[in-house]
Amino acid sequence: MIVRLLSGLSTRAPSVLYRVALMMKPQVVFVLGGPGAGKGTQCSKIVESYSYTHLSAGDLLRAERARDGSEFGQLIDNCIKEGKIVPVEITINLLRKAMEETMQTDEKNFRFLIDGFPRNEDNLQGWNTVMDGKADVKFVLFFDCSNEVCINRCLERGKSSGRTDDNRESLEKRIQTYLQSTRPIIDQYAKQGKVRTIDASRCVDEVFADVKAIIDKED
Ligand code: ADP
Ligand code: C5P
Ligand code: MG
Repeated sequence: MIVRLLSGLSTRAPSVLYRVALMMKPQVVFVLGGPGAGKGTQCSKIVESYSYTHLSAGDLLRAERARDGSEFGQLIDNCIKEGKIVPVEITINLLRKAMEETMQTDEKNFRFLIDGFPRNEDNLQGWNTVMDGKADVKFVLFFDCSNEVCINRCLERGKSSGRTDDNRESLEKRIQTYLQSTRPIIDQYAKQGKVRTIDASRCVDEVFADVKAIIDKED
């Protein structure tokens, strides 16, 4: 009898956990900061130590630009060079698909670092429209860095990145977009008490020590 009970439990337990996991809403951390602030670098380090999936909106857009048959390639290419923000209908679909695919691979994959999003009011509205109630935004990691440091890091990255926007002309436009469109979004989240600001001008390991302290406290 006991054996039957235990074996019943052991076969039922995973399915119960599985169902709980299926009901688990994606838990999202938005990662924001100027171009070159170190968002991608820090997200990679977070993924090494914590159970998060890193989704970079910029990487997803670059992949879509390169995808054979994409109807948006030209538009994305132009926006990236000009430092403009791609219409959210495109970006939110890429993010939503990537999140769904990730969650399908394993029910444990429901924590996301969404890097470089939302970058303007259009992005934020798109997120609220499509994802409202479907995902929880836990907090915003804000990598704070002077424009000068951002530009120098991107110019250095440009020596090997092959990116069409790691040049001085594009960078000036990207910084303007950041100041005019992204900072107000960070400010909105700050008013809700959701922003965790990190001094990103220091070396990678010092920045990561602060990142870890924040994630450990939030989790
Ligand atoms: P973002 O994703 O915010 O644009 P990246 O993580 O790609 O920034 O970093 C931009 C460039 O700066 C990369 O070449 C990276 O190696 C370098 N970098 C990142 N963090 C630091 C840091 N704390 N100090 C110095 N260089 C950094
Ligand atoms: O974050 P990353 O530096 O990779 O972004 C590169 C470019 O991708 C941005 O300057 C912008 O043109 C585009 N982008 C966007 N919308 C986002 C994220 C990136 O249009 N949410
Ligand atoms: Mg990046």
